[in-house]
Amino acid sequence: MFETMRPPAPDSLMEVGRLFRADMRDEKIDLGVGTYRDGEGRIKIMAAVKQAEERQLKSQMGKGYLGPGGDQLYCERLMEALFPDLPAMADRRLSFVQTPGGTGAYRLGLELAAFRSPASRLIVGAPTWPNHIPVAERAGLRSVTYRHYDPATGTVDFDAMMEAVSDARPGDLFLLHGCCHNPTGAALSPAQWAELADALLEAKLLPLIDLAYAGMARGLVEDAAGTRRLLDRLPEAIIAISCSKSFGLYSERTGMLAVMAASPSAADACRLTAETFARSLWSNPPDHGAAIVRTILGDEGMRANWLAELDAMRHRLAGIRSRLAASGLPGTEPIAAQEGLFAMMPFDSGQIAAMREKHAVYMDMSGRINIAGLNAGNIDRFLHACRDMSHPANRRAEPNSSLRDVASTMQV
Ligand SMILES: Cc1ncc(COP(=O)(O)O)c(C=O)c1O
Repeated sequence: MFETMRPPAPDSLMEVGRLFRADMRDEKIDLGVGTYRDGEGRIKIMAAVKQAEERQLKSQMGKGYLGPGGDQLYCERLMEALFPDLPAMADRRLSFVQTPGGTGAYRLGLELAAFRSPASRLIVGAPTWPNHIPVAERAGLRSVTYRHYDPATGTVDFDAMMEAVSDARPGDLFLLHGCCHNPTGAALSPAQWAELADALLEAKLLPLIDLAYAGMARGLVEDAAGTRRLLDRLPEAIIAISCSKSFGLYSERTGMLAVMAASPSAADACRLTAETFARSLWSNPPDHGAAIVRTILGDEGMRANWLAELDAMRHRLAGIRSRLAASGLPGTEPIAAQEGLFAMMPFDSGQIAAMREKHAVYMDMSGRINIAGLNAGNIDRFLHACRDMSHPANRRAEPNSSLRDVASTMQV
């Protein structure tokens, strides 16, 4: 039965991780997978998370199923933290489903949209998170891409985005990164969010906002402000929220889907339908991560501790951005105005391979770096390696064979 099965093309980022682990050099630098690292390079458990876990351990009475909708109090608290005093919340036009991570939320949102309108397409700015298009295909949605990023200026190609809005068909889904764009870091200004909201309304498009990095750019509510603008202006929206980064809960699979509908009855119908889909996808969501977030957000002290830790994370990221932007290296100047965990280095595949082989610096084959992998102990070495890449001998070299095939299958 499985004789005709062929292994899928390797995932480039996973391959970079494998090569990193196999590298025995002490000075190696990992700028690959998108996890936040502290100044010592650790993926630390946040103190507020530890505190909440201890409380949870003492108070948990059982481990029964949560039901396909999951922990609704967790969803409400998270929503309120991101979007305080949202009119749609008071009007009961929002419905929530707790999901396994932001990926689960995104998939569930797509399922709901595809069910509502099977002919809808997903309009996606490229480059984007490599999972966006494959997950949409799994949910049966066709995607259409447009140019999201202008590498010459390091900013969003807003004209191309607005053109994509006007080329779309009514009912199409328009995918947006709520903040901290992965992989480019390029952000929309408040004026651009406002213009976009008007255009989406006019074109009768349904925004699907992927909010996976709230708190890592300017602050929690500030990073959700673009999404908020859409929620205040449009009748309907889908939001996929991840707690993986903002709470450091990567392995706990903590996310939620929020659907804003035009009426309370439509919102209820969306929740019940999404619950049916959740039931056939994963049945019930995991409890632990959501319980931690619910506990933190429900306790003033823990909440303040968590926000202070999140602030420290974004200040550290901003510091690295300033260092990179001040380096004088070609293409790095816009990094200061970009946001979040990622930036694109203007290297070709040969330079990326040389960074790895000669300098033990590991980054995605697209040129994306996770800037959180940089710290006081390695940033000078990284900048030195980048300068070395400007040398003509390091341009347009062949990538090493194990990554050559992977690079050609990249989706971003
Ligand atoms: C843009 C974007 N959306 C969603 C996710 C999914 O996050 P989670 O691990 O919570 O599924 C990620 C994770 O890297 C991401 O970068």
